[in-house]
Amino acid sequence: MKRILTGIQPSGKLHWGNYFGAIRNMVELQNAGEDMFMFIANFHAMTTVRDGAALRASTRDVVLDYLACGMDPEKTVLYRQSDLPEVQELAWYLSCLCPMGLLERCHSYKDKMAHGFDATHGLFAYPVLMAADILIMNSDLVPVGKDQKQHLEVTRDLAQKFNNAYGEIFKLPDAYIPEQVALIPGTDGQKMSKSYHNTIELFEDAKSIKKKVMGIVTDSTPMESPKVPEGNSIYELYKLFATPEEVSTMADNYRKGGYGYGHAKKALLEAYHRVFDPFREKREALARDPDYVEDVLNEGKRRAQTAAAPTMEKVRKAVGI
Ligand code: ADP
Ligand code: TRP
Repeated sequence: MKRILTGIQPSGKLHWGNYFGAIRNMVELQNAGEDMFMFIANFHAMTTVRDGAALRASTRDVVLDYLACGMDPEKTVLYRQSDLPEVQELAWYLSCLCPMGLLERCHSYKDKMAHGFDATHGLFAYPVLMAADILIMNSDLVPVGKDQKQHLEVTRDLAQKFNNAYGEIFKLPDAYIPEQVALIPGTDGQKMSKSYHNTIELFEDAKSIKKKVMGIVTDSTPMESPKVPEGNSIYELYKLFATPEEVSTMADNYRKGGYGYGHAKKALLEAYHRVFDPFREKREALARDPDYVEDVLNEGKRRAQTAAAPTMEKVRKAVGI
């Protein structure tokens, strides 16, 4: 059994692209019985979020979102990064071995600079803390988006430097970037992404989802004319939610003509609700219990601390603390 660990920054609302590109895959791994750890990276979020109340609220929100989408706290250790302060301690040990040049080369830091973020030490040292998150749990596989691949390389590099200096303590983890995750298009046809303001959120209110779906940008082929389904955003999104039979019916309708994009949008909306209404109901039910999320996180904290303790004991002994 592999130990699989991933971290999620509590920033922004989750959207369809996140669900089909990442969350669904995590739920499948969990249900296949893997040894799963998932944490809310609230320390990392502080590199960009400067509002304590907002950070606290979005931490709770993201836990509710994941629970509603099928993460099961019995099967997955679900914890908050700040509930395991030992990661900060380990990050320091790793920092002391980390060449400046390794961090200076990181694309995500350079990208953030290019987007006008303040050049803080937190942003610069971000990958070291991420390495600590991963190494403290002896993770084998780390599911991440492509943009995080370089951070995994930094993690392996730091693990190796630590092992060379102090003896074989850390495993070298691998990034797990599922291939073939189709890029989910947004309402304007380009990749759905919060940076492009073209997302449809998983749990936004039904009215606003309807408005966004009905507003998906299309070409101006008239209703009567035949249309090409492949590559059309509505059709591509429909494939995510509908059964294979429904998908082939829509494809036939497109090709036949006399079927407008408005019809396709209605079908998409219905299919979304069929799949997501149970998740929405679950989220509402969980949110009604004010203690539930805290209880889940407290249990996660206990399990995460137990899992990290043996590694930290070895590490402290090795470094002389
Ligand atoms: P965003 O682009 O909205 O900032 P993130 O970069 O936070 O999204 O992505 C979080 C996860 O969701 C990553 O694993 C990423 O691969 C996946 N993901 C995000 N957008 C899409 C998309 N449009 N299609 C497929 N997967 C996506
Ligand atoms: N940097 C990751 C992201 O933005 C979040 C993260 C922090 C993470 N620590 C991690 C992911 C450890 C995997 C493992 O998506």
